[in-house]
Amino acid sequence: MKTRIYKISEDISEGEYDYIKEAADVIRKGGLVAFPTETVYGLGGNALNPESSKLIYGAKGRPSDNPLIVHISDFNEIYQLVRELPDIAGILAEKFWPGPLTMILKKSGIVPYETTGGLDTVAVRLPDNPVALALIKEAGVPIAAPSANRSGKPSPTTAQHVYEDLSGNIDIILDGGSVQIGIESTIIDLTGNVPAILRPGYINQNMLDSILGDVVRDPAIDNKVEGDIKPKAPGMMYRHYAPEGELTIVEGDISAVTDKINELIRLYDENTVGVITTTENRRRYNYGTVVCIGSRNDEITIAHNLYAVLRDMDKCKIKHIFIEGFSNEGLGDAIMNRIIKAAGHRILKV
Ligand code: TXA
Ligand code: MG
Repeated sequence: MKTRIYKISEDISEGEYDYIKEAADVIRKGGLVAFPTETVYGLGGNALNPESSKLIYGAKGRPSDNPLIVHISDFNEIYQLVRELPDIAGILAEKFWPGPLTMILKKSGIVPYETTGGLDTVAVRLPDNPVALALIKEAGVPIAAPSANRSGKPSPTTAQHVYEDLSGNIDIILDGGSVQIGIESTIIDLTGNVPAILRPGYINQNMLDSILGDVVRDPAIDNKVEGDIKPKAPGMMYRHYAPEGELTIVEGDISAVTDKINELIRLYDENTVGVITTTENRRRYNYGTVVCIGSRNDEITIAHNLYAVLRDMDKCKIKHIFIEGFSNEGLGDAIMNRIIKAAGHRILKV
């Protein structure tokens, strides 16, 4: 299959809208379309068609017990997807939708188990991106979309990333440029007695607490999941967001961190070792491939650049990558969560 790529600007000109129509038609006929959202690019298919969901798993090389997020373009589209809608879902939607929040709810009969990985619950999100919203609206069906990367790789934040991973396996890529946020949506489970965060994201615990009172944090977020314990978000179980090289986080007092990284990198051939650093520390390294992810004071930029930087390390064929640790405050929580997963929990405290 030849993958077609269409550039679309945020204000979607009349000519560009023809691409949306073509892509919507592909979705309705059971094909796959990658599209931008405000978090990362998604790989979309008709959420109500079990065959489309099977195609998504195939194209990503993803285990079929890892459920997909169902994207809608208007709040009213949620009613057909869920068996019951708790009041707090409406409150959260009012506050954060369209936006980077995914809600887990009890699914209705029309959502196939192929889409939910066999679960009786469904993940629903209303994204904040004009191209995504136009595509869903024009398709006339909710769109199931995981991140548009090969399973296990860093999520795509540009159409080029999608092309590298999935070209030849999907019909269309809608290229809306670089995404806004750069890490996946916050997932909140509303099916239990107390709302629970299953995956941290741009909408952080404080923002949710301030509206819902106490929100719990699923313990699987912070633990290495071993043995038979199944985390509530099955996706948290797999090695994730990972570059091909071996990533190690070095944490602690910043000058001890830079000293330690400088010591460690010299154990390797200069062509195979890399450092992911910050504007503040950039000049402290002069060995191997050194990439700056942004300033420590600017978490928005760090989140935005994280996956692209990990992919750049792969392009340079770096085998050993060292990254400085970041604070866990605010967006830092989601940033550290993704880095820890990418590092397979390899953390060095100095
Ligand atoms: O920002 C995002 O959420 C992006 C964009 C494309 O919307 N999508 C995304 O999808 O990150 P994906 O498939 O890469 O991650 C979905 C996560 C997985 O960890 C999955 O296990 C969890 O959501 N999930 C989906 N449905 C669930 C359910 N019914 N119960 C618990 N977890 C669920
Ligand atoms: Mg993903």
